[in-house]
Amino acid sequence: MGGPPPVVGIIGPGRAGVGLALALAHADYRVLLHGRRKRSVPKPLTLDVGSAGEPPCWMPEAGVVILAVPDDAIRPLAEMLAGAVTASHVILHLSGVQGQEALGPLVSSGAALGSLHPLQTIADPEQAPVRLRGAWAAVEGMPAAVAAAERLASAVGMRPFRVATKAKAVYHAGAVFASNYFVVVEAVAQRLLRHAGLSDRDAWAALRPLVEGTFANLMAREPAAALTGPVERGDATTIQRHVESLTRDDAQLYRSLGRAALELAQKGGMDRATAARVAEALATDLPPVLPVAPKT
Ligand SMILES: NC(=O)c1ccc[n+]([C@@H]2O[C@H](COP(=O)([O-])OP(=O)(O)OC[C@H]3O[C@@H](n4cnc5c(N)ncnc54)[C@H](OP(=O)(O)O)[C@@H]3O)[C@@H](O)[C@H]2O)c1
Repeated sequence: MGGPPPVVGIIGPGRAGVGLALALAHADYRVLLHGRRKRSVPKPLTLDVGSAGEPPCWMPEAGVVILAVPDDAIRPLAEMLAGAVTASHVILHLSGVQGQEALGPLVSSGAALGSLHPLQTIADPEQAPVRLRGAWAAVEGMPAAVAAAERLASAVGMRPFRVATKAKAVYHAGAVFASNYFVVVEAVAQRLLRHAGLSDRDAWAALRPLVEGTFANLMAREPAAALTGPVERGDATTIQRHVESLTRDDAQLYRSLGRAALELAQKGGMDRATAARVAEALATDLPPVLPVAPKT
């Protein structure tokens, strides 16, 4: 998609919508932002609030329209927009897991349909212009939609890459592990230190330097080379003691992650005998679930 930059309309003034709008505005794009209720948006953005169930009044002006709404709201929003979308539009959404099929209600319009998923977490939209720079972005969809998505991504400093429609779910599951479950694993660690007698606050303060060290290792090398710890060392007895010290749920999580760590250690050259000892320790029988006593 060559020529002058298209006018970009964004529906959904949430974290991703406002963040991307701001980044595009900083890249000298004209951005039109639409929401279903009044709220403040950072300068130079302005928010247009329309009547419920009506497409934004700027639809004929926009070359690219981005649906920046929660994943489950994409299809209903596409249905609502159907009468206002024409063959000259490019329609994109930002979901990591859904593909162009979420825009199914717009197929008969002849518009180019696709998705643009920034592989970045946007909690504060005002930080987005900086956060998006250097982030990768998965693009998918019809050829004209892919070209438009790649152009927008590049304009805000992202690195676009293509993902097949049917591969989006597994791609996005990977993103969830890298970001969301990374946070969850830290929360589990904090809770276990609390069981060891620390306050929540001290537990996180104590873990922070460890997390920072791990993060620095990960920034310097790939995960397989950054792995340390009992699985990588082959310390089977340590692993067994860990499993025995945990509640059933935590032990299950520990064992699943331990098996993934073992796979990594084996790729790194762990010998078969050590791997077998570690696998056996990870398979340690979990404590039985205590039956709930019947109420008398
Ligand atoms: N945030 C991220 O880190 C991130 C990163 C990459 C991709 N994404 C993708 O970006 C999309 C939006 O995520 P988000 O994090 O920005 O969500 P969000 O902060 O919750 O914002 C969602 C926005 O959509 C609006 N909305 C909700 N339901 C709607 C509906 N039925 N019709 C019209 N508007 C509706 C909300 O408006 P109200 O305020 O009126 O409810 C809000 O402005 C998702 O597809 C997500 O997967 C997000």
